[in-house]
Amino acid sequence: MKKRKLLGIMVACMLMLVGCGQSEADTSSKDAKNEEKAQTEATVDSSEATADSSEAVADSSQAAAQQEETGDAESEKEVLTEGKNEAETMEISTEISTDILVVYFSRTGEQYGVGMIDKGNTAIVADMIIEQTGADAFEILPQEDYYPYTYDKLTDVAKKELNDKARPAYAGEVPDLSQYSTIFIGAPVWWGDWPMILYTFFEENEQALAGKTLLPFSTHAGSGLSGFDKKLSGACPDSTVGKGLAIAGTDAQNNPEKVRKSVNDWLSGLGY
Ligand SMILES: Cc1cc2nc3c(=O)[nH]c(=O)nc-3n(C[C@H](O)[C@H](O)[C@H](O)COP(=O)(O)O)c2cc1C
Repeated sequence: MKKRKLLGIMVACMLMLVGCGQSEADTSSKDAKNEEKAQTEATVDSSEATADSSEAVADSSQAAAQQEETGDAESEKEVLTEGKNEAETMEISTEISTDILVVYFSRTGEQYGVGMIDKGNTAIVADMIIEQTGADAFEILPQEDYYPYTYDKLTDVAKKELNDKARPAYAGEVPDLSQYSTIFIGAPVWWGDWPMILYTFFEENEQALAGKTLLPFSTHAGSGLSGFDKKLSGACPDSTVGKGLAIAGTDAQNNPEKVRKSVNDWLSGLGY
């Protein structure tokens, strides 16, 4: 019985608080065009209502006690409805958007030391970063996918691209980079360098990347980061390039827990 009474008191408190914020919002939304502004005010106003909560708590305690004694099922239903409204209000006011983006390039098919794979090594690492930071993602995919799925043939095509300083086109539209302050950029090491398609991305977006923190990561078969950070600084001189991470491609496929630890340690060292 005591528990129900206490619950009734708590629910009535919530009802009062939400009621305050809601009525303020209703009053201020005279103009439909200003609806968005009114929502913001409602959030601020409900904080003010929280400041006045001692009075509300005292009043609602009595109301809740009466409710408990009469056992009014109708009132309980109302309270539940109000509770739902409160949850919706909170959902709106606590919604946040990320300012972190993960850009990555990765290949499936036959890869060094891991055979045929259906999820690329770099994609595995990218997903761990996304999972840990809540970042948005943009996968760089070739506009025309002429890359072979056999390792030897792929190395030939990539070597030619490197020698030609090719700038292969990528598909899709890059998200609006102005909304991001930090951008992780990952790729496999190809012939000791970023795959040429990454330079297409760097050069086409150099202005939009200016002033942002860029964090490179690689997967590889022994070359480590292979100068990804310096090469990225060279391509995007007005960006700040932070500490990079290198993950062995074989670990990405075969030892995900080890990789997850490396990724999380790196991220926490960066403050994420
Ligand atoms: C064309 C090509 C060139 C490569 N060159 C290197 C290299 O210079 N150094 C290295 O350590 N690994 C090299 N590798 C191995 C890849 O970096 C490694 O397998 C990587 O994890 C593949 O990632 P992905 O599955 O995301 O594409 C090369 C692989 C390919 C296909």
